[in-house]
Amino acid sequence: MRFAKLALAGLLATSLAAFGISAIAQQPATSPAAEQPTPPADAQPAPTDTPTMAVPAPTTETVPAQSAVIAPAADASGGHGGEEAAGGEAHAAGGHDLLEPVGGWPHEGYFGTFDQNQLQRGFKVYSEVCSVCHGMKLLSFRNLGEQGGPFYDPRYPNPNDNPVVKQIAATFTNQIPTVDPDSGDMIASPAKTSDRILGPFANDIAARAGNGGALPPDLSVITKARHGGAGYIYSLLMGYTPPPAGLTVAPGQHYNAYMPGDTSASWAGDPRHKPPGGFLAMAWPLEYAEVTFDDGTASTQEQMAHDVSVFLAWAGDPKAVARKQMGAAVIPYLLLLSLLVFLSYKRLWRNVEH
Ligand code: HEC
Repeated sequence: MRFAKLALAGLLATSLAAFGISAIAQQPATSPAAEQPTPPADAQPAPTDTPTMAVPAPTTETVPAQSAVIAPAADASGGHGGEEAAGGEAHAAGGHDLLEPVGGWPHEGYFGTFDQNQLQRGFKVYSEVCSVCHGMKLLSFRNLGEQGGPFYDPRYPNPNDNPVVKQIAATFTNQIPTVDPDSGDMIASPAKTSDRILGPFANDIAARAGNGGALPPDLSVITKARHGGAGYIYSLLMGYTPPPAGLTVAPGQHYNAYMPGDTSASWAGDPRHKPPGGFLAMAWPLEYAEVTFDDGTASTQEQMAHDVSVFLAWAGDPKAVARKQMGAAVIPYLLLLSLLVFLSYKRLWRNVEH
């Protein structure tokens, strides 16, 4: 009797634990903006008052309004707010709400999925704009053609056979050092589908030398490495505004309201109202970007920023959707099994005093 009860309790505990684990595993994927602790009422900008929060037009008049409204929250989060904030805070380091693109983040949440067209557009932005400086060395070209990936095609279950993936690998800026079989010299050859998506620079020293001393980080897992994930990348890409009057920007640096950092040392105004955000060496990559999307979507800066952020979210966890779908199948199975075990326990022990 005791054994049966224990077994039943164990099974129930297992299914509850499985549910709990899957819930915890989903935690970082939930909408960063929606999950944030609500800032003080006066710090919450009404969308109508500050249209810049929805679509930040880089105009000088709107910036002081934005920073003034947001400043209390920024101060409260301290210097490197985003990077050092206590666990679970979805703040970007600017210490204020992240920007939310039209259409939001459909890949987030328990049943989130990626739109393959959007992933393809995002990859196009990465390959035509970002790959000039950033590599994604945890990703191989063949990953792009795997199930759930931007170029998955059911006709080619093996992504190495996928002609689109082959074509991308062969024409990417990525050049792989190889030994020339005739001369023995080192030569650069086009990548194969099995090769990693390396950056354009041979090493970090060359990358720094080409970027005024700053190292463009590898983007493979950047959405995992920053609070706010895709929302942070989008906000960073749309957060380039002219610096508010009173803020000195060092040569080679750029002001961004969402970059983790501290503007107080460069701020001549009231220290209680220092502008949110920080400085970074990357100029606004989308300022002059011209990408023609193959599906006819208009390539506005918002669209490019949105699509590339979604692509980077996929790249940071390419198996996320498969994992969620597996969870959605396993939980009902475990619950049903628990019910059956409970009913058989009731039946087996129905005539026994216990
Ligand atoms: C001209 C070169 C260049 C291009 C093009 C470029 N970046 Fe960067 N990026 C940099 C450099 C340099 C840094 C490091 C800046 C620093 O640390 O001050 C950087 C940093 C970043 C960061 C890290 C910010 C942080 O939180 O530390 C992200 C994210 C990023 N870039 C995304 C992108 C995306 C997405 C694109 C394409 C839309 C892109 N970059 C295009 C040079 C570039």
